Amino acid sequence: MKVLITGANGMVARAASKYCRSVGDEVVALTRQDLDIADRDAVIRAFRSERFEAVLNCAAFTDVDGSETDPSKCYAVNSNGVENLAFASGDIGSRFVTISTDYVFDGTNSGFYTQRDTPNPQGVYAKAKLDGEERARKANASSIIVRSGWIYGHGGTNFLSVLGDLLRDGKPIKAIFDSHGTPTFADDLARRLRELAELDLPCTFHVTNSGNGTSYAGFAEMACELIGADRGLLIPASADSLKRPAPRPSSSKLACLFSERFGLEPLRHWESALADFLSGK
Ligand SMILES: NC(=O)c1ccc[n+]([C@@H]2O[C@H](COP(=O)([O-])OP(=O)(O)OC[C@H]3O[C@@H](n4cnc5c(N)ncnc54)[C@H](OP(=O)(O)O)[C@@H]3O)[C@@H](O)[C@H]2O)c1
Repeated sequence: MKVLITGANGMVARAASKYCRSVGDEVVALTRQDLDIADRDAVIRAFRSERFEAVLNCAAFTDVDGSETDPSKCYAVNSNGVENLAFASGDIGSRFVTISTDYVFDGTNSGFYTQRDTPNPQGVYAKAKLDGEERARKANASSIIVRSGWIYGHGGTNFLSVLGDLLRDGKPIKAIFDSHGTPTFADDLARRLRELAELDLPCTFHVTNSGNGTSYAGFAEMACELIGADRGLLIPASADSLKRPAPRPSSSKLACLFSERFGLEPLRHWESALADFLSGK
């Protein structure tokens, strides 16, 4: 398949490029400098000239707190940008997969959120991502929306991604005990993104590693166990104590109603994925 991967310098994009290349795809991986997804004309031009067969949109404005002070930048990418890609994909008949977020839910459900639950995004980033989902569907009814959450991977800069290195260096870490989610290894998500492009069903999917989810503290404890780090480095903290500008759901565990019914294997358990990640695989 000739596959476009947007936001090519990002964590999930890099995993997706690597995976698609490994299965023999012709990968066109474009960074923000190569293709700004907020620039509609540039997007349409690129699609008409390259005639991609599938598009995996990994580009996003992912600064959740910064979105509160710069909503227009956030919406330009996470809403308008997604619409531009959806439209341009429809224009050339390409499959279109775009990543959304567990943050579309408000966190009041401490169980698993499925596609039967009504989104109720709280912060600017979350609202823009949901708007992106809706615009994608309107611009191109074949759009495939993939909600995921708590993603970590090689080259990532978020808490889940850098935790192992910090623990190995003996650095103390604030471990939030009252936020729960379903961790997702970028490499596993990448494989599923491509499988969904192949499946070509216009749906909203929830994609995470399997298991019952955990808290950030639980994730950090598992990381300590896997690399033999001192659990004493973990300093319990409440989410509120971090005083972050953007609201975040206190629980955003995702489960999918469709994946298995469509013949897709559940992604492996998050603990097994974390073990591979921490051992550099
Ligand atoms: N990380 C998580 O825990 C998580 C959870 C749920 C959902 N998601 C979603 O998963 C997807 C991938 O996230 P990620 O963690 O891989 O993010 P990331 O590492 O921050 O990568 C996002 C990439 O998008 C690029 N980008 C920003 N604006 C762009 C534009 N206008 N045009 C083209 N590219 C642009 C960025 O480039 P620059 O660096 O040059 O700005 C960056 O390389 C996103 O849709 C995100 O919302 C992530």
